[in-house]
Amino acid sequence: MTVVVLRPLELRDAPAIFAAVERSREALRRWMVWHDDAYDVKSAEAWVQYAVAAHTAGNSLHFSVRDADDQIVGVLSLEDISPETGRAMIGYWLATSATGRGLGTRAVREAVSWAAAHSRIRVIWSLVAEANAPSRRVLESNGFTIVGVRERDERGDIPLVYEKALP
Ligand SMILES: CC(C)(COP(=O)(O)OP(=O)(O)OC[C@H]1O[C@@H](n2cnc3c(N)ncnc32)[C@H](O)[C@@H]1OP(=O)(O)O)[C@@H](O)C(=O)NCCC(=O)NCCS
Repeated sequence: MTVVVLRPLELRDAPAIFAAVERSREALRRWMVWHDDAYDVKSAEAWVQYAVAAHTAGNSLHFSVRDADDQIVGVLSLEDISPETGRAMIGYWLATSATGRGLGTRAVREAVSWAAAHSRIRVIWSLVAEANAPSRRVLESNGFTIVGVRERDERGDIPLVYEKALP
């Protein structure tokens, strides 16, 4: 399968990632634990450097998410890849302006297909707040099912554990 939405993260992507964060603060503040109101272009540069190094080492895989105009509108990561168990955690976010058009569903679909064909990942899991309806829908559309429920977190959200076994 050709990956058309996801592209391995590159060092030069940092300014575009910061710009996507900057125009999506409200949603990211609500749903992404890493978001901080002080997040700036230096934060984006530091994270991209770390992410590209982790990608190269094979510990985690980080992709930019592109829209139809090839503009960066978000990030999708497969993290904490365990060579022993073949498990990896998926995380993703999109700029608010790019949401509601099926891009999240498509990005996760591409990540699953890519991982099945090109990695040793055999199970992908995710933690999603019960109240995050769009994110839950994205996973469920891609065949993920709920396998666990965690204690209410410090934000008052109930984290659901989703999982999908790859073919
Ligand atoms: C979660 C996120 C990636 C979804 O991306 P997206 O491109 O908007 O999602 P899609 O358009 O592919 O699909 C969203 C689905 O949720 C549904 N949806 C959207 N808003 C909804 C709502 N308030 N209640 C219920 N369903 C909703 C859509 O109808 C669609 O369902 P469908 O496939 O049955 O039509 C995006 O909203 C985002 O980045 N949010 C902020 C960060 C975040 O929450 N990341 C995930 C953390 S676990």
